[in-house]
Order: sequence, then C-alpha cells, then structure tokens
Amino acid sequence: MREFTATVLENVCIAEEIWSLTFALEEEQAVRPGQFCMIGVENFPLKRPIAICKAEGERITVCYRLKGEGTRKLASQYRAGEKLQVLLPLGNGFYAEESEKRIAVVGGGVGIFPLISAIRAYAAQKEIYAYMGFRNKAAICMEYEMQRAKRLVIATDDGSYGFCGNAVQAFKNDFSNARPDVIFACGPLPMLRALKAATAGMGIPVYVSLEERMGCGIGACLVCVCDRTNGKKARICKDGPVFEAGEVVL
Ligand SMILES: Cc1cc2nc3c(=O)[nH]c(=O)nc-3n(C[C@H](O)[C@H](O)[C@H](O)COP(=O)(O)OP(=O)(O)OC[C@H]3O[C@@H](n4cnc5c(N)ncnc54)[C@H](O)[C@@H]3O)c2cc1C
Ligand code: FES
Repeated sequence: MREFTATVLENVCIAEEIWSLTFALEEEQAVRPGQFCMIGVENFPLKRPIAICKAEGERITVCYRLKGEGTRKLASQYRAGEKLQVLLPLGNGFYAEESEKRIAVVGGGVGIFPLISAIRAYAAQKEIYAYMGFRNKAAICMEYEMQRAKRLVIATDDGSYGFCGNAVQAFKNDFSNARPDVIFACGPLPMLRALKAATAGMGIPVYVSLEERMGCGIGACLVCVCDRTNGKKARICKDGPVFEAGEVVL
C-alpha cells in the first residue's frame, strides 16, 4: 500500500446517481479483487473508501454513488487532468481456492462494484453465476462487465428490469442452476443477513465484503471496528473488508 498522486483520466455519470472515475497512477500497481482505495477530496481531512472495480496496469477505475458532500464534490470538481491523492491497494480481497470451480457472486447497490473486480479476475478460470440487485432500471450500470459471468441475473426492486426482487431472492431462485462451491457477496447488511440465513447449514463458504464508516483505512484509528462471532473485534479496513460470513456479527 502507498499513497499516489494520481491523474484523473475520466469522471462521468454512468447511471442514476452513479459515477465512474478512472485515474492513472504514477506506476503500475498489483491489485487483488475486492481490495479498495481511499480517495482524497480537496478540503476534506478524511479520504473516502471506494472499492476498486478495475485495475488495468496503472489505470484504476472506481464507481461511486453520490451520497454526501465528499462524493458530490468528487463528481462536480474532478475533471480529466486534475490530480487526486489516493491510497491503495487496501484490505484483503476475495480469494477462491483452486478446488472452488463454481463461484456465485451476490451483490446489491454499490456492493456490486467490488464484485465486478472478482468477476474480472476469475471469469477465465471459473464458472461465475452473478446475481446483481439494483433499485430500478435507471440505476443499472457496468452490465457489460457483469456479462463476463457464465450466468447473469439482474434484479430490480421495482421489477423495471430483469428479476423483480433483490439479489438474494434471485440467487435462491436459481440455486439449483448455480450450485456454487463458494459465494462472494457485498451489499447492505439486511441483504448479507438474508444471504447468510439462506445458506446456513449448506456447507458452502460465504465471503462477505463489509462497508463501514472509515477514518484512516489502514488499521490505525479503529473507526471501522466490527464484532467477531468469537467475541473479539475486527478492523474492517485492515482485517477485511472480506470476512467469512460466520466469522463476523452481521
Ligand atoms: C471498503 C469500502 C468500499 C466501498 N466501496 C464503495 C464503492 O465502490 N462505491 C460507493 O459508492 N461507495 C462505496 N463505499 C461507501 C463510500 O465509502 C461512502 O458512500 C462514501 O465514503 C460517502 O462519502 P461522502 O463524503 O459522500 O458522504 P458523507 O456521509 O458526507 O461522509 C462523511 C464521512 O463518513 C464516511 N462514510 C459515510 N458513509 C460511509 C459508508 N457507507 N462507508 C464508509 N464510509 C462512509 C465518509 O468516508 C466520510 O469520512 C465503500 C465503503 C467501504 C468501507
Ligand atoms: S478506518 Fe481506521 S482502523 Fe479502519
């Protein structure tokens, strides 16, 4: 991990309230699927944690939803050629064992973005079954990246596109088709809880990527601490963001 002064190559709106930002690092950086970066926004002391969607040599792409002041300023102020302070790569990421040939990825909302990096990393060696949930048709983005999966089911809460319902319901519906050896998931906590409940007792490892408010992103400030099921604490930025679902209290 190191701090880079990156150059913005592109920062564009790709769906309702969703922006895609591509920047160039000073040099190529190895990034594992599911890792994230901390992006500095002028005049904000804390950087913002955002999953790395694509890493292509020195080019990094992240996608972000407009949420508060930081992400709104990122969208309105940073144009091609501007400089950006970024810290990366951070966190552990997703990892599939050699024996795990069939991977289900289950994502909701901005949780789809770290899963896109997993699809990109594993699509050539594994069979990927992707279940991706969006609010509505207008929020759908990066479909061309998700189509690298052997099977892709897009779900919308209002049924305006694809399966009507959430990503976990879409996954449960299609379970006999997917028969995954391992599951990677990211999304709102109720979605992750529902997935944990749906897969309980099946013996399939489920890895969840957690999103929590962060301060430093490097394990120093303890802002991002969550509870482990063994009573201990974990720092999401340093020990995660990816955990075995049974290892953490969701
Ligand atoms: C590991 C990780 C990966 C993430 N990946 C993505 C992604 O790919 N795309 C995306 O749109 N969002 C992602 N998020 C959420 C994103 O970090 C927040 O939406 C963003 O920080 C909000 O900043 P803001 O200034 O617009 O909002 P504000 O609410 O004004 O932020 C105030 C402070 O709270 C922190 N904060 C607020 N909400 C969150 C949150 N949900 N998670 C973490 N910190 C938060 C901010 O970083 C900032 O320090 C990720 C979060 C984590 C922890
Ligand atoms: S954000 Fe500081 S310890 Fe995790």
